[in-house]
Amino acid sequence: MGRRVLVLGAGGQLGMALVQKFQGAYEVMEAVHRGPKPGRPLVDLADAAGTLRLLDRLAPDWILIAGAYCNVDGCESEAELCRRVNVEGPRSVARWARGRGAIVVFYSTDHVFDGSLASASEESPVHPLNRYAQSKVEGEQAVREELPESHLILRTSSLYGPDQARKNFVLRLADRLVAGGTVRVASDQWGSPTATSDVAGATRFLLEKDRTGTFHAVGPDFLSRIDFAHRICASFGLDARRVIAVPTEELHQPARRPLRVRLGTRKLSAAGAEPFSNVELGLAALKGRP
Ligand SMILES: NC(=O)c1ccc[n+]([C@@H]2O[C@H](COP(=O)([O-])OP(=O)(O)OC[C@H]3O[C@@H](n4cnc5c(N)ncnc54)[C@H](OP(=O)(O)O)[C@@H]3O)[C@@H](O)[C@H]2O)c1
Repeated sequence: MGRRVLVLGAGGQLGMALVQKFQGAYEVMEAVHRGPKPGRPLVDLADAAGTLRLLDRLAPDWILIAGAYCNVDGCESEAELCRRVNVEGPRSVARWARGRGAIVVFYSTDHVFDGSLASASEESPVHPLNRYAQSKVEGEQAVREELPESHLILRTSSLYGPDQARKNFVLRLADRLVAGGTVRVASDQWGSPTATSDVAGATRFLLEKDRTGTFHAVGPDFLSRIDFAHRICASFGLDARRVIAVPTEELHQPARRPLRVRLGTRKLSAAGAEPFSNVELGLAALKGRP
């Protein structure tokens, strides 16, 4: 199709899935933050001038912003860096795209909501409870303001998939249990585990259909973190007795978390996107190839 697709933050788990999903059909360009892909151009979203030079050089048609400051607790102590990466970086990218006919895709989180709604739609009022979530709300706003007609915002939740850094919940849990440790897991935090390949697939689908705007993009299950941990153990053949259920307040996490955010996905399915994998299928696909 001749389009030039730039994945910013291609070394992260979603970045990797996006590269895989677009490769072959498009000219895919990858930019990584610190590695681990030697030879790829580097991008630091906190460095607006450097990011703009990269965009000028690569001249992409579609820009997928998979890079972000994702450490929720880290954002509490590094609020300024978190804002530069998650708000000002995407704003600069969207400003660059304006007038050049480029489309920007920004990934956001279920945690823009506070968990007080039974199910949140794309139009529900946001209410972030921590600095990471606040930065994502402001990142969304920045991209909408700079590029009102030509953006996609995909809000997702609890991502898992192949991950070179092995940082996601599934692989960290598996690694700790395999190493013989125990893991304390919140018993009262609920969410919708989502396979990175599904979010990548929805991204490609929406871009190819010329759809813009905000979409919720999460897996079909809504379950507690501890339930998810037990299903990971069942799927990977790990000892679930070494997963300890703990109420959130006993985890003493610096950032406050919303406990039960459920994203409604009717808009994405009405657009005709493929259904996302449930946890069993997603974990089965991950098993053996993480
Ligand atoms: N993971 C989840 O459960 C989840 C849930 C909801 C929404 N999201 C959103 O989904 C997107 C992808 O997340 P993910 O799960 O793929 O996270 P990830 O695996 O941690 O990847 C994030 C990537 O961002 C890069 N990065 C960090 N600082 C950067 C900077 N200053 N400039 C450019 N890139 C930078 C990281 O590079 P280094 O490692 O080299 O620093 C890493 O490659 C993010 O926008 C995140 O907020 C994630």
